[in-house]
Amino acid sequence: MSPKSVVVTGAGRGIGLAVTLELAHAGFDVIGTVRTPEKDEALRAVVERTGAAVRTVLLDVADATSCVQAFTEIAMMTDGGPWAVVNNAGFAQPGAVEDVDDEQARRQLETNLIAPARIARLVLPAMRERRDGRIVNISSVAGRVSLPMLGWYCASKQGLESVTDALRMETESFGVKVVLIEPGSHRTGIWEQGAELLPAERTSAYRDQYAAADQVVRDARTLPGPRPVALAVLKALNARRPLPRYLVGGGARSAAALDVLAPTAATDWAKQLATGLRAAPPRVARAVDRLRGK
Ligand SMILES: NC(=O)c1ccc[n+]([C@@H]2O[C@H](COP(=O)([O-])OP(=O)(O)OC[C@H]3O[C@@H](n4cnc5c(N)ncnc54)[C@H](OP(=O)(O)O)[C@@H]3O)[C@@H](O)[C@H]2O)c1
Repeated sequence: MSPKSVVVTGAGRGIGLAVTLELAHAGFDVIGTVRTPEKDEALRAVVERTGAAVRTVLLDVADATSCVQAFTEIAMMTDGGPWAVVNNAGFAQPGAVEDVDDEQARRQLETNLIAPARIARLVLPAMRERRDGRIVNISSVAGRVSLPMLGWYCASKQGLESVTDALRMETESFGVKVVLIEPGSHRTGIWEQGAELLPAERTSAYRDQYAAADQVVRDARTLPGPRPVALAVLKALNARRPLPRYLVGGGARSAAALDVLAPTAATDWAKQLATGLRAAPPRVARAVDRLRGK
């Protein structure tokens, strides 16, 4: 039997690269998408060094024409269409709601929410015809929990969760299984890129919070790498009956549980504290300093 084909979007780095390598080593026929010929070459080099085999296609998920072209090419490479798609490509637009303009908000929603739905439209007809297929959407714990200074990112992931839940119910009778992966925080390029996307600091009423971005990027270097997310995707693809959603990591599980169980006033307070919107009481500040080894 020929290996099952899986498309992974945003395969060049971070979680997408980890998923690509994990699936390729597990025996899937992986097609990794990247945005430029340079990134294509870099991905092929990394894959070759690990001894895996991966085919590549150019794709900018935020560009509808690019999506049609890429998935037409992929249909030809996979005898009509891939068995599965992992919608991973995404980014985090930081900034207070007041500071993020329409263009930035649209770009966030286009990439993280509209694109996975558009890609589902492109792959579903062939999956339905075969009565077999999987769509795995990489969401986030931010798909369940709203955070200040990340309002539009949370909106994009919470929108993705709503659309994915609807899609899962709509496609079940056609043999297509739809899954959400909800990672906590992992060490990838998303943090540095987010810091670069911060709104102009000097003029903002939130400049003190933005000034802490460097510390957030430094702290992110100590986070766990992306492999646990890749293992969750592998589990979702290998399971005969995958779960509707996989929360990845203890941090994600406790944040999701706390957000449901604790009163909103308490979770607001904790999130304001964590993002510097509220000053910590001296005792809490000393405990945080101790945790940071100061
Ligand atoms: N890292 C975390 O802590 C975390 C937690 C929860 C969820 N996630 C989610 O995991 C996914 C991957 O993020 P990551 O952490 O691996 O970040 P990353 O290291 O910054 O990688 C993001 C990937 O998405 C690609 N991408 C971005 N916009 C794209 C577009 N318009 N078209 C095609 N590709 C595009 C990037 O390609 P280029 O190289 O061309 O920019 C890159 O390959 C995202 O959906 C993110 O929201 C991450």
